[in-house]
Amino acid sequence: MNFKIPHLPFWVWTLGGALTILAFNIAITLRAEYGFHLEKIEENVKEWRSLPIQYAGASACIDCHQDIYTVWAKSNHIIVSCENCHGPARAHLENRARLTGNTSRELCELCHAKLVSRPSDFPQVDVKKHGGQSECITCHNQHISRP
Ligand code: HEC
Ligand code: HEC
Ligand code: HEC
Ligand code: HEC
Repeated sequence: MNFKIPHLPFWVWTLGGALTILAFNIAITLRAEYGFHLEKIEENVKEWRSLPIQYAGASACIDCHQDIYTVWAKSNHIIVSCENCHGPARAHLENRARLTGNTSRELCELCHAKLVSRPSDFPQVDVKKHGGQSECITCHNQHISRP
């Protein structure tokens, strides 16, 4: 296909060029004031700041769960934080809200289901065959990870 630049009057080109530059400037100004969000940057920061903090971090558990913490810290699951399996724990620290352990096969399958995209040296199992239908923790200690 042969693309030809259309013959338009000179003023059309000039106006087109001017509008493009104007749009570009408006975009830069808005970007500086609003960032990538539809709100002003300060509003956005305020909104995020006002969200309650829900996570506590694993080091917050040492004081009261020393036994589990010590076992976990020596295991290969040390890179899986307590709250990955127990959910956000700040309320548990502040007012002893009950936490539950997620005992479902699905939780463990998230990381351990066999996938071609996973590094072959990462421990993974065929979840349809491995361990029948029982919860993984009937045979594995979640804090030690080893069976
Ligand atoms: C100030 C002490 C304290 C700290 C810190 C603490 N816990 Fe606990 N936790 C307890 C007590 C006491 C129980 C037993 C509650 C019961 O039996 O009703 C408990 C129970 C639990 C349970 C069992 C389920 C339940 O709610 O009874 C889980 C899971 C748990 N804690 C996880 C954590 C995690 C994860 C952290 C760190 C983010 C943590 N805890 C930090 C005192 C603490
Ligand atoms: C890989 C997931 C996983 C990780 C990581 C994990 N837990 Fe657990 N935890 C569980 C499951 C599952 C249970 C069993 C819950 C049940 O039987 O209802 C449990 C049980 C518990 C219990 C109550 C029963 C018990 O064994 O005394 C406490 C307390 C607890 N975990 C604390 C922790 C703390 C503290 C950490 C981090 C140092 C941690 N867990 C890390 C999955 C995990
Ligand atoms: C967020 C990801 C994640 C979740 C969820 C998770 N694991 Fe793991 N698991 C790991 C990592 C990372 C390792 C260490 C891999 C390595 O050594 O290369 C591991 C190792 C293991 C191993 C191999 C033995 C060992 O100690 O290295 C077993 C068995 C295991 N996990 C069982 C479980 C069970 C059971 C659950 C559910 C209660 C679970 N995992 C949940 C990430 C996870
Ligand atoms: C009936 C008991 C049983 C159940 C249930 C079970 N496992 Fe296992 N699992 C074992 C035994 C025994 C081994 C060690 C021998 C082997 O590799 O088959 C093992 C090994 C593993 C390994 C290590 C494989 C490797 O390459 O090192 C992983 C990861 C694992 N299991 C994850 C899981 C997950 C995830 C679940 C739940 C979806 C689960 N297991 C349920 C008994 C069980």
